[in-house]
Amino acid sequence: MTRLETVAELSGNYEIRRFGAVSKGKDGYAEAETWSRAVSFGFHESTRTPEHVAKSLATYESDGRVLTGAYQTGQVAPGSLPADVPVATFATFRKTLNIGFGRTLESQLVTSVTVRTSHRRRGLLRRMMSEDLRLAREDGIAVAALTASEGTIYGRFGYGVASFERTVKVDTTARFSLQHQATGSVEVADPKALLELAPAVFDRVHRLTPGSIGRQEWYRQLVSGSLGHEGKEDPAVKVALHYGPGGDVDGYVSYKFLGWDKEPYTVEVVDLLAATNDAYLELWQYLGAVDLVERVSWEEAPVDDPLAWALTDPRCIDSSDSRDMLWLRILDAPKALAARHYPADGKLVLDLRDPLGLTAGTYALAVEGGQAAAERLPDNTPADLTLGVSALSSIYLGGVCPVTLAAAGKICENASGAALKARQMFAVERATHCLTHF
Ligand SMILES: CC(C)(COP(=O)(O)OP(=O)(O)OC[C@H]1O[C@@H](n2cnc3c(N)ncnc32)[C@H](O)[C@@H]1OP(=O)(O)O)[C@@H](O)C(=O)NCCC(=O)NCCS
Repeated sequence: MTRLETVAELSGNYEIRRFGAVSKGKDGYAEAETWSRAVSFGFHESTRTPEHVAKSLATYESDGRVLTGAYQTGQVAPGSLPADVPVATFATFRKTLNIGFGRTLESQLVTSVTVRTSHRRRGLLRRMMSEDLRLAREDGIAVAALTASEGTIYGRFGYGVASFERTVKVDTTARFSLQHQATGSVEVADPKALLELAPAVFDRVHRLTPGSIGRQEWYRQLVSGSLGHEGKEDPAVKVALHYGPGGDVDGYVSYKFLGWDKEPYTVEVVDLLAATNDAYLELWQYLGAVDLVERVSWEEAPVDDPLAWALTDPRCIDSSDSRDMLWLRILDAPKALAARHYPADGKLVLDLRDPLGLTAGTYALAVEGGQAAAERLPDNTPADLTLGVSALSSIYLGGVCPVTLAAAGKICENASGAALKARQMFAVERATHCLTHF
């Protein structure tokens, strides 16, 4: 990838540099490697081995990641980290987002956000974020997305929670029984088979699932046990494939047994993908049948989960922790609104506020016969709903209810019934769920 130029100077004390991720042996590797170590420091990871960093950067390169760093320009304190170690980091790459009914939209994905403790609250995050979102919008990108370590950081930049996930612990003792007649079959496979198969299965799941984000290169390595979180092969990973009635692989589960010293004996799901409803239930039938195991845990389970309804005893699921997952940020409202399919006709005038001024304005969203048009109106036009871009981003994928946001004071309903109309118009065909962490 071509190296990008330094793009900004900050208040004389910091310089912001952007450059492409490159793999070992290429020009710019040393800078990318130092950047990568600063990210590990920011997330309290132990120092990564040079091999781990090299593997990570190779996958970043294939995803076309752009790395941003803030560097000290003045004298650094004697004995402290040198000036080539960034005091703040930020990275982006682009993947498609499923916006419902099989439509996808190219999105700016933001990740690796850290600011060194000794340089925090000096506006570094604000500067990197504002500038990056502006550049993405100028580049024709209509939405940005991220996952957040804390709930208080990103609303101020116009992001809103758009999807949720939860941790489940499923009791797979004799209580576990699924009311489902299998139409396909499940077979154990060499985990490495997923290096080939996982992207094709994911592609099908991605097209089916509102809120799904295209996956980075690293995923097929993770799910096949080729590159675990520790930067090495993970021999504990096991894989079962689901075959549909025609014999095609339409789902898989990648999982690990957590060992004999953990009671109840537990299998942890690394990844579970199913491109059909039957594949989903049959993979759970498989997990429920694994001998010598009393529990299956999954940290990325859907909140609205068919499993709960298919179980004879839905209380087999212990769901301890439901949390926000995808945060979305609309950068170009008319473009994003026109890109969606709406299952209900109607017209809504939106008075949209934007703290970064990227897409504020009054817009008419008109849907007739399934065809959507979004146009900017004069600013004083009476609006049905007044809302921040963060609230519009929350309801955009159909995973958050506008009526609830109105009740919370996040949407002001100027015309009676407009929030319910928005709920009907922004509905999606199945539960919003994002299975890709980044
Ligand atoms: C979160 C973090 C990136 C913020 O960086 P920063 O440079 O200190 O942020 P800024 O100085 O640009 O602050 C921007 C705004 O966000 C606010 N803010 C920043 N971090 C915040 C937090 N954790 N909680 C609440 N508000 C926060 C600031 O008060 C400021 O508000 P204002 O502009 O309205 O005055 C930094 O604290 C950090 O590295 N944390 C550890 C790693 C992490 O959590 N990264 C996020 C991964 S998703």
